[in-house]
Formats: sequence, C-alpha cells, structure tokens
Amino acid sequence: MIILAIETSCDETSIAILENKRVLSNITISQIWEQQKYGGVVPDLAAKLHLENIQKVLKNALSEAQIKQEKIDYIAYTEKPGLVICLQIGKVIAETLALYLNKPLIPCNHLEGHVYASLLKAKHEWKFPALALVISGGHTQLYYLKKHLDFELLGETLDDAVGECLDKVSLLLGYTYPGGPIIEKLALTGKNSYPLPLTKLDNTFAFSFSGLKTAVRRIIEREHSKSSPKKLNINDLACSLQYTLAKILTFKIEKVLNEKKINTIVLGGGVVANKYLTGYVQQFLQKKNKKIKLFLPHKKYCTDNAAMIGILAYYKVKFKNTTSVHNKITRKKLKRKKIE
Ligand code: KG4
Ligand code: ZN
Repeated sequence: MIILAIETSCDETSIAILENKRVLSNITISQIWEQQKYGGVVPDLAAKLHLENIQKVLKNALSEAQIKQEKIDYIAYTEKPGLVICLQIGKVIAETLALYLNKPLIPCNHLEGHVYASLLKAKHEWKFPALALVISGGHTQLYYLKKHLDFELLGETLDDAVGECLDKVSLLLGYTYPGGPIIEKLALTGKNSYPLPLTKLDNTFAFSFSGLKTAVRRIIEREHSKSSPKKLNINDLACSLQYTLAKILTFKIEKVLNEKKINTIVLGGGVVANKYLTGYVQQFLQKKNKKIKLFLPHKKYCTDNAAMIGILAYYKVKFKNTTSVHNKITRKKLKRKKIE
C-alpha cells in the first residue's frame, strides 16, 4: 500500500510517501525563518508560503521516493485542527491529486497524527489500553485509547499549550520563535533555582499554563528592573520552567495511571523533541511501573511533518476507518455529471 500524505496545518509545508509503515520520503519546508520576524505564525503569510512551496515539496517527495504517481493507492491530508486557510491549501491539493489519480482521500486529524508518529520506525506495536499525551504549540491533550483510532479525550489545557508557554517565555527573554529549542538549550547549563507555581495540580485531567507563564514574566520584570539587587539568571529560569512543566505533566499522567489500567504511554507533538521532558517522564515510569511501555517519536517526527499523517492513514486503512468526504470520485462519473 502506497500512501501520499500532505501536512499544511501551520508553518510547515510537508509531503511524505509511505509504503505501508515505511517512510520512502518526507519532504518539509519550514517557514520558521520567515515567521520568526513576527514572533509567531502569521496565518496569511503561512498560506502564501504554502502556495509557494507545495509544488517543489511534491516534486521532491515523488522523486526521493522513486515512485511513479500511478503507484499511489491513497491520498491523505490534514483535515483539522490548524489554521483554516493553511488547511484549505492542503485539502485542495489532496483533492486535486485524488481526482487526477482516481484514488481515495483520507482526511486525518493532526493531533492523532502526532500520536501515531511514535509508530514510525517502531519495533513493537502499542499494547492497549493506551494513554496518549499531545504536547505541541497549539495543544496539550490527554487521550485514553481502548483500541486503535479510538481517541477518548480525558482532558486538555484550559488556556495556553505547553509549547505556547515555552514560545512566550522565549519572547519575554528576548529570544525568537519557536521558543522550545531555545529554552531547552538555555536550561542545559542552568539550575532549578526559581520556585515556580505548579499550576492546576487538582483532581481533574485538565491543564493550565497561563499562570505559570505570568509567574515567569513577573520574575523577569522584577529582576530586570534597575533597583533589583538580584541579576536575572536566564539559564536557571529556563531550567526551572522545564522542571515545573515536567512535574505538572507527570502529575497528570500519574493521575490517569492511578485511575485506569494502562499498558502503553505515547507522547506526541513538537515539545516531545525536548530531551529533558521525555527523560523526566521515562524516569518517572521506571520508578512507578516498569511494565508500562513508553513510545516516543524520533526527533525528526516530533514537530509537524507529513510522515505522521501517512502512518495515521495507514492505520485508518488497516482498520477500515477512512471516513472520507469524497471517496473515489471517478473521472467517468464527473464527465457524465458535466454533460447532464
Ligand atoms: O507540533 P508542533 O510542530 O506544532 C503544533 O502542532 O503546534 O509543535 C511546535 C511547538 C512549538 O511551541 C515549539 O516551541 C515546540 O514545539 N518545540 C519544542 C522543542 N522543539 C519544538 N519544545 C521544547 N523543546 C524542544 N526541543
Ligand atoms: Zn503539530
């Protein structure tokens, strides 16, 4: 089974070609350099750049995979969530290809794609029930899965996402977007010396990070003011922020483990590229329950990419869960429609 997958939900234009679960090509053009000037993603600019780049990405994905168009069996694309004008570009390209090649379309959920990214190049399959935590720039969500593709949302952030919190703190410190990799680097030489609030450590599965971000902002403002006797240590602040985020995330994971039988934990989303956070979760699980297997995507599949949409589509086909808006529109039918 050959799947061509398209991802354009935010600031990465990406097309991947998979043969079953194997990635034959995964070409991504990131807009980070252009978007950095604005401190975040500007939707109109993102859409313009997707249009500029998508043809080149498609051409390179096909040539790297060494696949003739006729060999493609399915066209998958990110349907939601994301920036609407960016999603529309991916959808139109996917529909055009599906029509031209006369192949079925598979609309995919971006967040489910982040979760399935951990099965790219994986030696084992998940054992159910599974718990999935998505931590990205736009989302922080906990899911319970009884079986494949059966996503039950347990809880999500009430305000900022984890990645958003890192991005905002990076800007407050005078650095650029995206903030996650910058905070991670700063934290490497820092100590956990700033006590930050462990927000929303309550009896729910919901998260909240805006109070944490505000607490960091207050520290920056206080220690930046001329009258302050203490000089701001940005490495320590970055380290303290990562520690606090890790504590909050593992608190919620532990809460699920205390209430439900879980055999597999899956992490997904751009923030999973952070070695400190994943290391913290790994250590926590080692202490808590050695039998639970942790699945993490390879670093290159953490941030937005089309390969994760491709593998999700693979499982959708496997389990006949390809809810598609326009399954197999034949050219013949269309012609007839026109004449009528
Ligand atoms: O999943 P993603 O590429 O896009 C969304 O779906 O939102 O995630 C982007 C987020 C950004 O907030 C970025 O700062 C964060 O992932 N990120 C990281 C790291 N690399 C990217 N956060 C922490 N550590 C990293 N190394
Ligand atoms: Zn994403």
